[in-house]
Amino acid sequence: MSSRISLTRYLVEQQREHGHIPAQLRLLIEVVARACKSIAISVNKGALGEVLGSAASENVQGEIQKKLDIISNEVLIEANEWGGHLAAMASEEMDSIHVVPNRYPQGEYLLLFDPLDGSSNIDVNVSIGTIFSVLRKVNNQRGISEEDFLQPGKQQAAAGYCVYGPQTTLVLTVGEGVAMFTLDRETGSWVLTEDQVQIPEDTKEFAINMSNMRHWDAPVKRYIDECLSGKEGPRGKDFNMRWVASMVADVHRILTRGGVFLYPWDKRDPDKPGKLRLMYEANPMAFLVEQAGGLATNGRQRIMDVVPGKLHERVAVVLGSKNEVQRVTDYHLASP
Ligand code: AHG
Ligand code: MN
Ligand code: MN
Ligand code: MN
Repeated sequence: MSSRISLTRYLVEQQREHGHIPAQLRLLIEVVARACKSIAISVNKGALGEVLGSAASENVQGEIQKKLDIISNEVLIEANEWGGHLAAMASEEMDSIHVVPNRYPQGEYLLLFDPLDGSSNIDVNVSIGTIFSVLRKVNNQRGISEEDFLQPGKQQAAAGYCVYGPQTTLVLTVGEGVAMFTLDRETGSWVLTEDQVQIPEDTKEFAINMSNMRHWDAPVKRYIDECLSGKEGPRGKDFNMRWVASMVADVHRILTRGGVFLYPWDKRDPDKPGKLRLMYEANPMAFLVEQAGGLATNGRQRIMDVVPGKLHERVAVVLGSKNEVQRVTDYHLASP
């Protein structure tokens, strides 16, 4: 079908129309997409590829790594190391940054990723994904260090994710709206299947891990209580709930049909700002959601304005349909 628009053509045309996708960024996105294709192949093999189950290691987040966490991390690093488009990479699965080795040219971008999101769903054959975020290397004066990565999310040059579900879908923003590409397994190409994605401003669907209810802070409790009280309550409508426990899958649903996603701060670990990682999960998803007309806050502040103090920083997350996120944020701002 000649009318099908491939990822390559989409990027070339974006560059022509808006002129903000330099060759290095285009290469970077194509390489990440190719790496996701390779991860999708491993994911699909499942038990036949001996990719299920845990490895005998723990990551810097204090989580036992799954075999696929490690495989996906390696695929992304190997694919991105030699192209000359990157200066360094950072990942949920690596303690510190991975600087592009001297034998390869250094590029002007920084790539951050959650190589395999939704690890607890790998072995049960439920949707999982890869999340990525692209920053520019701002300081040209010296070599590269962790500090170069500590930029607020609003400085992202691109962000996206790939969801490995019933379909393999790549969702991308380069700052001009959100586009979705479905992997055509017969031709191996990414085909544009949705452009200028918009999240409905209102919703009757929320996503939160309800098992943590007793640990929540008052504003979150108030918001969910009101949703649960349905038609008879102050919201005057019934709400539905979904929780996949793969952020990629929950955000994909919200980009597709609206909804609100919450992973709030809670009293289990008061010193931790939240569970999700600012740089590998919250920022890229916030960029996508805002580009699709939604909002993303930590309950009080726009996520993309948060200035990270360290690479593996965590953050509370409220994102999705504009009016619901605004409501949750208002409840927080009204409480001391
Ligand atoms: P990861 O698999 O990359 O460590 O991320 C898991 C995250 C996120 O995908 C999901 O929204 C959340 O953890 C689920 O947490 P609970 O198990 O606490 O519900
Ligand atoms: Mn993890
Ligand atoms: Mn994750
Ligand atoms: Mn992960």
